Amino acid sequence: MSLFADLQALTAAARAATDAAKSREDLAAAKNLFLGRSGQLNNLMGRIKELPNAEKGAFGQAMNAAKNELTAAFETAAQKFAGAEKLLPDPTLPPKTRPLGTLHPLRQMRDRIAGIFGRLGFAVAGGPEMEDDFHNFQALNIPPDHPARDNAETFALVGGGLLRSQTSSVQIRTMEKMRPPIRILAPGSVYRPDAVDATHHYHFHQIEGLAVDTRVTLADLKSCLLFFAREMFGDAARIRLRPSFFPFTEPSAEMDVSCVFCGQAGCRICKNSGWIEVLGCGMIDPNVFREVGYDPEKYRGFAFGIGLDRMVMLTAGVNDIRLLTDSDLRFLRQFVA
Ligand code: DAH
Repeated sequence: MSLFADLQALTAAARAATDAAKSREDLAAAKNLFLGRSGQLNNLMGRIKELPNAEKGAFGQAMNAAKNELTAAFETAAQKFAGAEKLLPDPTLPPKTRPLGTLHPLRQMRDRIAGIFGRLGFAVAGGPEMEDDFHNFQALNIPPDHPARDNAETFALVGGGLLRSQTSSVQIRTMEKMRPPIRILAPGSVYRPDAVDATHHYHFHQIEGLAVDTRVTLADLKSCLLFFAREMFGDAARIRLRPSFFPFTEPSAEMDVSCVFCGQAGCRICKNSGWIEVLGCGMIDPNVFREVGYDPEKYRGFAFGIGLDRMVMLTAGVNDIRLLTDSDLRFLRQFVA
């Protein structure tokens, strides 16, 4: 093998080593191996005496050219790591922290209530917020002359339809799609053109419950609601049903829970009555079953409607409903899940 061929092979090997280097240390070792004082190129140079005199000059030139080229190659490769070194974090600096998000208190309450009823076999269902008269009113046995139908009570949509004013519409949507047995919970936004103040908003939230089967009784409703009240307010909670009226239930009731804040001694929260109003409920009116094509002789059911905003306000001591939709982080950060 001629020395010229050896030089060529060494140069190629050195180039490959620059490319393969993964760190500054790799690179320094490779450079030393090839270009160091007793490195491979200098070794080869030592063998120049083996050449005939006529070729010595040419070999010296080839050797210099190779050294120059490789020195440049090592420098270029070193720049790659010099850049990386600048980016290396200083391990003594405090870590960069990202602010952690939290679930909105309304979402937390929705999940909590869904969890409670989930254990009783209720699945979460949904329906559109842009509704029609049939699902929001007519099928719920709300007659055309009912005050809830007044234009001042519901947002009408341009081009027809309305923004649902109650999640009860999901009762109808669900029964249209499914056959009993049904046990669903329908949380969501509802809208009414109310003037905004500390306890009223045009956009608020409800959770609707619906159970339908061949044998569902008022006692089932009561036991479900008692379970809910105890999970929500503690084992000491008691409930009472006050007769009321809703067009889509018969009989209808409002449920109060014993005031857990004062042990019924009387306080600001229960307005000294010892009881807190929590939801509306009742047994499904046969007219509603007829609207969705269920045989009212065969099926029974109950429904209830919980005001979600009110539940958050009650349990967290929030005194202004506007806080729940204002997206003020100073307020929201207090609700760490
Ligand atoms: N939809 C009623 C409202 O917005 C609340 C309600 C009452 C829902 C009784 C029900 C119920 O399902 O049975 O005022």
